[in-house]
Amino acid sequence: KYEGLAMTPPMGWNSWNTFGCDINEDMIKDIADAMVELGLRDAGYIYLNLDDGWMAKERNEEGKLYGDPKRFPSGMKALGDYIHSKGLKFGIYNCAGSKTCGGYPGSRGYEYIDAQCYADWGVDYLKYDWCNTENLNAKGAYHTMRDALYKTGRPIVFSICEWGDNKPWKWGKEMGHLWRVTGDIINCWDCEVGHGTWSSWGLWKIIDMRKDIRKYAGPGHWNDFDMMEVGNEFSDAENRSHFAMWAMLATPLIMGNDIRTASQETIKTLTNEGVIAVNQDSLGIQGFRFSNEFNIETWIKPLADGDWAIAFVNKNDADFNLEFNWLKHEMGDDLNQRFINFKQDTYKIKDLFNDKKLGDTSKPLNAVIGVHDVLMVHISKSKVE
Ligand code: DGJ
Repeated sequence: KYEGLAMTPPMGWNSWNTFGCDINEDMIKDIADAMVELGLRDAGYIYLNLDDGWMAKERNEEGKLYGDPKRFPSGMKALGDYIHSKGLKFGIYNCAGSKTCGGYPGSRGYEYIDAQCYADWGVDYLKYDWCNTENLNAKGAYHTMRDALYKTGRPIVFSICEWGDNKPWKWGKEMGHLWRVTGDIINCWDCEVGHGTWSSWGLWKIIDMRKDIRKYAGPGHWNDFDMMEVGNEFSDAENRSHFAMWAMLATPLIMGNDIRTASQETIKTLTNEGVIAVNQDSLGIQGFRFSNEFNIETWIKPLADGDWAIAFVNKNDADFNLEFNWLKHEMGDDLNQRFINFKQDTYKIKDLFNDKKLGDTSKPLNAVIGVHDVLMVHISKSKVE
């Protein structure tokens, strides 16, 4: 694969969660404009990714893909140029099977032709889905596309979208830069919605299902907990908790809402510098659950320079009075062999969502956490201002 890409979790926007296959070039250009105007690009959201639905229903006489003539009349190269002119990167979608999930032409048997088209259009990111793949070997199919992309010589982030059945975390590092770990996310706090042979998963279902595969993730190869549902009918508190958890999981921050109509509060959450910094931390260590007492999910994530991020999420349907006595806790990360001794070292505490200093770890931390809200802190021996 093309090495040196996605050294921190990719950040951007994807069309699927809000628009499904109903996408067109005017709307995508509006999204590009909004990413710039709302400060999202400057906060780090660089990739503008089209999902399923961009293609014409058939290949052309040369066997090449092209944009749907009604919805993308200017063609994909022109769209890529527009996206690049805004200082953004261009992401596109296809599928390892004979057809995409939406019934558009898949890449099976056309991998090298498609990869070259993407490179010619200036594509920077490919999400590669897993519908209509009867009898295909997953690792093999992603291997073929990886090689096809590599052969173009263009640096293209390769996003494996296999849903977890073939344990992509075990082989994904060789093949791509990130891999989905479950079926599709849905905008609910903690539910499973069945569709016959498959399900969509609420936030906590996805997190619970895959919290134990953290050792497979790291710079250039991430567990992908799916595109965010921040801004998609969650309360502001739930948006914060969702965003905090995606940061703690060191998973891609790919927005899935209509940013053109998003509330100010949603944009404020999505552009929170301190939370983004936790996600983008250079160590690239996925956080883990420290405890789950009183329905308070407490997660910790080691950061560069000996710092840590800690998130307390209130899953109760009532406010929670948190008292966290640091001195009574031993915190550490067996996997990465990093430990804190609060009796020896005092850490300064910063509340990231409220951009506020909260003293230091020599005294218990007291806070009221609202329903489904989060208190997310960055602790540091030296740096917290
Ligand atoms: C299934 C994927 O998991 C989704 O994220 C989306 O890409 C759809 N397919 C598109 O059909």
